[in-house]
Amino acid sequence: MPRTRFRLNGVETEVDADPDSSLLSILRGQLAMTGPHFGCGANECGACNVIVGDHAVAACDTPLWSVAGNDITTIEGLGSAEKPHPLQRAFIAEQALQCGYCVSGILISAAALLKQNPKPTDADVRAALDRNLCRCGSHNRMVRAVLRAAAEMAAP
Ligand code: FES
Ligand code: FES
Repeated sequence: MPRTRFRLNGVETEVDADPDSSLLSILRGQLAMTGPHFGCGANECGACNVIVGDHAVAACDTPLWSVAGNDITTIEGLGSAEKPHPLQRAFIAEQALQCGYCVSGILISAAALLKQNPKPTDADVRAALDRNLCRCGSHNRMVRAVLRAAAEMAAP
């Protein structure tokens, strides 16, 4: 099998797999990164989102070959229990999750937004999360949490 190299959460990574494999199957299987979730498998729900470069993409619909040489960030690379990302703190503070299944993808979409636009409006956040589904109906709290994190990150 050909080898594909990229940086995963800042770590140089090489995988030996079919280049047409979905990035999600490689992350969750060979690389044991189970933060990105399998939801629809059809680029419709955002549960599998990861950041490639500066943009959130659906890993289920991203072929392995297309990420060669790129920086990939999964939820595992965003923060940790010891050192949570401001978005993670804000989601807890706003109680912005219920079952949590969608949340890693939503945090990734929000993190990509804040990379590109550190001072988003309410409308910007809603647009960035538009393609992330939450069957628990927590979207309004999530929008508040993203705005809260943005304010914290912008504070001097
Ligand atoms: S599982 Fe990838 S978008 Fe739904
Ligand atoms: S918190 Fe349950 S699907 Fe979003």
